[in-house]
Amino acid sequence: MFEKIKIFFEELETDSLESKKDVLEDILSLAKEEGLIEIDKGKKVDDLKIVQTKYFGKKGIISDLMKYMGKVSNKDKPILGKIIHNFKTTLEDKLNQRFTVLKKTEINAKLETEKIDITLPGTNSQRGHKHPLTLVEEQIKEIFTNIGFTVVEGFEIEEDYYNFERLNIPKDHPAREMQDTFYLNEDVVLRTHTSPVQARIMDKMCPQLPVKIIAPGKVFRRDDDSTHSPMFHQIEGLMVDKNITFADLKGVLLHLVKSIFGEERKIRLRPSYFPFTEPSAEVDVSCGNCNQEGCRVCGYTGWLEILGSGMVHPSVLEMAGYNSNEVTGFAFGIGIERIAMLKYGIDDMRLLFDNDLRFLEQF
Ligand code: DAH
Repeated sequence: MFEKIKIFFEELETDSLESKKDVLEDILSLAKEEGLIEIDKGKKVDDLKIVQTKYFGKKGIISDLMKYMGKVSNKDKPILGKIIHNFKTTLEDKLNQRFTVLKKTEINAKLETEKIDITLPGTNSQRGHKHPLTLVEEQIKEIFTNIGFTVVEGFEIEEDYYNFERLNIPKDHPAREMQDTFYLNEDVVLRTHTSPVQARIMDKMCPQLPVKIIAPGKVFRRDDDSTHSPMFHQIEGLMVDKNITFADLKGVLLHLVKSIFGEERKIRLRPSYFPFTEPSAEVDVSCGNCNQEGCRVCGYTGWLEILGSGMVHPSVLEMAGYNSNEVTGFAFGIGIERIAMLKYGIDDMRLLFDNDLRFLEQF
């Protein structure tokens, strides 16, 4: 195209443009057709920009044509101007039109791909749930509150006096060796059991009757293996009133065991020793794994030990101010970990404290 125009003007020389304007018009009308086709072919804004540069750029056809304006005679200038103007505006109009269309399509396509569907469900954050120890503690609390017990709390940091002396365990008593104690100082310990709550609640209540409480909480001992943890949980139970007997204790514990493990389970009370109860009994539940046939879980005995209990020792009642000739009571201490392990078939206590979600998610 450049070439044809160049030749035209070379040949024009001194001739007037007027007589040969048809020839130039033909050349340009061809160029125009070509341009219009190129514009139509452009499928993207960028394609169109290339065409735009070809015709309207600094070195484009139109600026090339303009150079001849200075070369033709004054008379010819308006003629050439008109021809160029016609050529230019046709292409310009077509380009603008096409730019508008393509820009719109591109924006629409972009909007389409970047569209946010607000009706889609969001990504849910994982829902937490209760720890197996919490589940067991809550269940036991519910069982006892349903039969009139009140839930109370004691202190994790406890006086030696309440942790031991008030429970009939004086300083040199061999029973202190049953519990590996964390001493904070000579008189203050991390409580080794929830039993001190017995003494504290009786101090508070005396002379009122009945005393009917359970006390859940953390306890601490210097122990750490697959069945012991230095921190674990107990629930203490205490009932003091007139005419409380061992049969009441047995009835309450049987109700507890059946509620947790199922109606078909049985309990067995074995004579035992605790300084703060007399008589004392260790309580076993019939093994649910083997139906008492004997298996690894119950050590082939058919029974699983679950708690300690007994009738409140007269001195423990007396130290609180109750007359042990008139009132009696029973007490028990349940290990929550032990119950959770039996209930859910967990064989290593440390799993309860590792907080591995793969483990915890199962409950
Ligand atoms: N305090 C005892 C312990 O931690 C458990 C216990 C036994 C609590 C007998 C009692 C009880 O209330 O009567 O080993």
